[in-house]
Amino acid sequence: MSLMTRWSHCILCLLLFIQSTCAQKGFVSLQCCADSEVTDPNSNITWITDENWYPDKLNCQQIKRAAQNDTLYDKARFFPSQLGTKWCYNLTAEKDQDYLIRGTFLFGDLQNTAPGSFDVLVGVTQIGLVNSSAPSEVEGILKATNNHFNFCLSTKKGEPYISKLELRPVNSDYLEREPSSVLKVIDRVDVGNTGQEIRYPHDPYDRIWRPELNPDQNATPTSSSSANTTITSANLTVPPIQVLQTALIHPERLEFLHNDLDTGYHEYDLFLYFLELNDSAQVTQRVFDIYINNEKRREIDILAGGSNSYAVVLNFTANGFLNLTMVKASNGSQLGPICNAYEILQVHPWLQETVQRDVDVIGDVRRELLERNQDNEVLKSWSGDPCLPLPWQGLFCEPINGSTVISKLNMSNNGFTGTIPLFPASSALISVDLSHNDLLGKIPESLTSLPYLKTLYVGCNPHLSKELPESFNRSRLKTE
Ligand SMILES: *[C@@H]1O[C@H](CO)[C@@H](O)[C@H](O)[C@H]1NC(C)=O
Ligand SMILES: *[C@@H]1O[C@H](CO)[C@@H](O)[C@H](O)[C@H]1NC(C)=O
Ligand SMILES: *[C@@H]1O[C@H](CO)[C@@H](O)[C@H](O)[C@H]1NC(C)=O
Ligand SMILES: *[C@@H]1O[C@H](CO)[C@@H](O)[C@H](O)[C@H]1NC(C)=O
Ligand SMILES: *[C@@H]1O[C@H](CO)[C@@H](O)[C@H](O)[C@H]1NC(C)=O
Ligand SMILES: *[C@@H]1O[C@H](CO)[C@@H](O)[C@H](O)[C@H]1NC(C)=O
Ligand SMILES: *[C@@H]1O[C@H](CO)[C@@H](O)[C@H](O)[C@H]1NC(C)=O
Ligand SMILES: *[C@@H]1O[C@H](CO)[C@@H](O)[C@H](O)[C@H]1NC(C)=O
Ligand SMILES: *[C@@H]1O[C@H](CO)[C@@H](O)[C@H](O)[C@H]1NC(C)=O
Ligand SMILES: *[C@@H]1O[C@H](CO)[C@@H](O)[C@H](O)[C@H]1NC(C)=O
Ligand SMILES: *[C@@H]1O[C@H](CO)[C@@H](O)[C@H](O)[C@H]1NC(C)=O
Ligand SMILES: *[C@@H]1O[C@H](CO)[C@@H](O)[C@H](O)[C@H]1NC(C)=O
Repeated sequence: MSLMTRWSHCILCLLLFIQSTCAQKGFVSLQCCADSEVTDPNSNITWITDENWYPDKLNCQQIKRAAQNDTLYDKARFFPSQLGTKWCYNLTAEKDQDYLIRGTFLFGDLQNTAPGSFDVLVGVTQIGLVNSSAPSEVEGILKATNNHFNFCLSTKKGEPYISKLELRPVNSDYLEREPSSVLKVIDRVDVGNTGQEIRYPHDPYDRIWRPELNPDQNATPTSSSSANTTITSANLTVPPIQVLQTALIHPERLEFLHNDLDTGYHEYDLFLYFLELNDSAQVTQRVFDIYINNEKRREIDILAGGSNSYAVVLNFTANGFLNLTMVKASNGSQLGPICNAYEILQVHPWLQETVQRDVDVIGDVRRELLERNQDNEVLKSWSGDPCLPLPWQGLFCEPINGSTVISKLNMSNNGFTGTIPLFPASSALISVDLSHNDLLGKIPESLTSLPYLKTLYVGCNPHLSKELPESFNRSRLKTE
């Protein structure tokens, strides 16, 4: 099933309205390792440093490669720990709002750093794989299911790194059909534009519309700076008018080939945008068929709905290759096809994270331990989801009752000082090992009364009181 959108309000008015009232509202723009905040004079976007997430600069590196000038930034933060499996930025969000999130990964000619590769995740859902043989950008669109979410780098080989991170609220129409999905942005093409990319402030969501780099040689670029649309959508992912004002036309057929889609079968949503740029064109004069990988999907007459603009979303499944072809309709269309812009989005199901209860429990334990053990490498490596895709050092997780829970905690031999943290009664832990540390005080009742706890190891903590809470069944305690 595909969704057709008949635009029903003035694009220009709508965009102007959005720009003047909510410019930058909800934008979060991080330059990793930056010394201070800067405002880009071209866009008025303010970039902040990532010191609230990662305060130290020990693992910051300067990127030297000149080819990366266009990113206007030249630093990268590396995550070199052997202990961590992933490194996350916990971002504040508005629940149920849709967001675009974009990471930029610069590598360049760095010394002393072996090239590697790592996954990029939102929550625990993978939206990209970065391979340091080339700079890259990874972008996803998702609905915030909570008032925060994590953007993470998950180690595969070598050290993960990141230069910039951008969070932008977007129109809810991208995910209207599949609210519990994450869309991975594969491409966003401003057809017919051979100049500069177009983004904020022209695009209120700061989507980056890239110029068409290898246009079909037989097609004719066309543009109309006066093109005006009386009608557009309230319900829209529609690009800014500057993007729609350029297009490719051809008397017979337009062909767009993408040979570089991910291998393996994946589902995609293709958003197509049309605006008639020929003032004389009439209804029934420009009718064409859309083919996706040789399958006819839709006949289109842009003008048929009484408007000069049209948007359509088509879904398809593909393995590595997309052939998007538009062919003039055989029964008497006078003009050939036109295409103004399109987006290719790969659809991923939003994967379930560890149950919130356990995330909160271990978050509290971590915070308490950190107060007295600020330089503990294990605690510092605890980032993002505690269990997925790999558990934090010292944790063991299991699927129970259909969700992932933390079942064991082993903090043995970590040099911890301080008192044993409070354990919320909601914890489903069955085994806790705190042995071989330097913990002080008493064993708290909150720990010994955990409902599922079977074994507790507290031996070899010379300053820990041997006194046990009354309620405790001694058979479960191991003091060795
Ligand atoms: C940036 O802000 C200044 C001052 O408010 C304004 O004059 C300028 O037009 C803005 N530039 C953009 C690109 O919005
Ligand atoms: C990058 O910027 C430097 C200095 O601004 C300039 O000399 C160089 O030509 C630029 N490189 C590219 C590839 O644009
Ligand atoms: C990274 O990409 C290069 C070139 O495309 C390839 O040779 C290499 O195997 C890739 N490395 C990893 C770890 O995927
Ligand atoms: C755009 O279309 C509207 C309605 O037809 C018209 O009033 C307006 O003058 C047009 N604007 C331009 C710039 O052509
Ligand atoms: C999109 O259109 C549908 C059907 O017309 C409507 O129910 C929905 O509220 C619209 N979404 C937005 C964000 O306007
Ligand atoms: C515009 O459309 C008219 C038909 O309405 C056609 O005669 C003319 O050739 C078209 N112009 C271009 C540049 O395609
Ligand atoms: C072309 O023919 C098909 C049926 O063969 C018909 O459904 C369609 O409406 C026709 N289009 C035009 C523009 O006449
Ligand atoms: C792309 O699809 C069209 C329409 O099905 C077909 O005619 C054309 O040969 C295809 N091109 C390639 C390179 O496969
Ligand atoms: C398009 O999406 C619908 C509903 O999600 C699904 O049933 C259908 O199989 C999809 N079509 C393709 C070609 O993937
Ligand atoms: C992320 O931030 C939110 C609110 O700022 C907080 O409630 C949550 O515990 C944090 N999550 C992690 C894993 O740090
Ligand atoms: C799993 O579900 C059962 C039955 O609903 C319940 O008794 C048990 O406490 C649950 N286990 C956990 C760890 O939540
Ligand atoms: C905890 O880990 C240590 C080694 O890191 C191991 O010796 C010990 O057996 C583990 N404890 C449990 C309960 O598995």
